[in-house]
Amino acid sequence: MANPRPSSHRLLRSRLLHPPSISCYVLVLLAFSAFIFLYSQRQITVVDRNPSDESFEDLKEQLWGSASGYGYRPCVKRTQKYAATQKWNRYLTVRSNGGLNQMRTGICDMVAVARLMNATLVIPQLDKRSFWQDTSTFSDIFDESHFIKSLEGDVHIVHELPKELESAPRARKHFSSWSGASYYEEMSQLWKDYQVIHVPKSDSRLANNDLPIDIQRLRCRAMYHALRFSNPIERLGKGLSLHDADTTEASGAAQVTWPIYCSSSAF
Ligand SMILES: *[C@@H]1O[C@H](CO)[C@@H](O)[C@H](O)[C@H]1NC(C)=O
Repeated sequence: MANPRPSSHRLLRSRLLHPPSISCYVLVLLAFSAFIFLYSQRQITVVDRNPSDESFEDLKEQLWGSASGYGYRPCVKRTQKYAATQKWNRYLTVRSNGGLNQMRTGICDMVAVARLMNATLVIPQLDKRSFWQDTSTFSDIFDESHFIKSLEGDVHIVHELPKELESAPRARKHFSSWSGASYYEEMSQLWKDYQVIHVPKSDSRLANNDLPIDIQRLRCRAMYHALRFSNPIERLGKGLSLHDADTTEASGAAQVTWPIYCSSSAF
């Protein structure tokens, strides 16, 4: 019969013989805690640093400089395979819906849809009823000529429907939200019967549906390059910026213009 004693003795002895393994463990723990402590102290000093430590110019630069991109890069360039558009003799008319931000996204999606469906896009109408009771048109808010010009190679865009098509029968189509490219290719069947498709809502949420890379990039080009605010709004924005506010002329202009845009353009 085996006697368990010697083996438990051996275990105890071996533990006592190797105390450094425990102290090592404790040491590592202590070092880790010390590291965490020092690190958090450093964070606190960064937050608590008195702003007067830095010159006003540095702060201004931080405030108006480009925000960190967190490693993301602009993604707007056409790939080699991307072909320039043609002037299609069929038209997509769009009524945007929602607030300004939603309309911006919707308009960019409609640029992509026009491209997918080989259509000429008519400058979208803005929502004048649902949220803001706002009578602004596309060109009141956005720089219309810049929009048309900067998407020249992507989608043919016109100010309005050609006169001869104003009374032509139109297909009215609520596109299903979150559809992919193949859905819009299927929708192109409508061109067999109609020369104009009217889209009464622009929030079709095209995003992240395995769209071809060139269509994604087109959406980005539309959003970040083509949709620029109209000149009066750009001027107002510049006037309101803090770095211009110290000139009496700019702040005066801002005071005069701001209430007008507040009430008429849903800002
Ligand atoms: C759009 O036009 C291109 C080039 O002519 C063609 O390859 C493509 O199949 C067309 N797409 C649709 C949906 O009609």
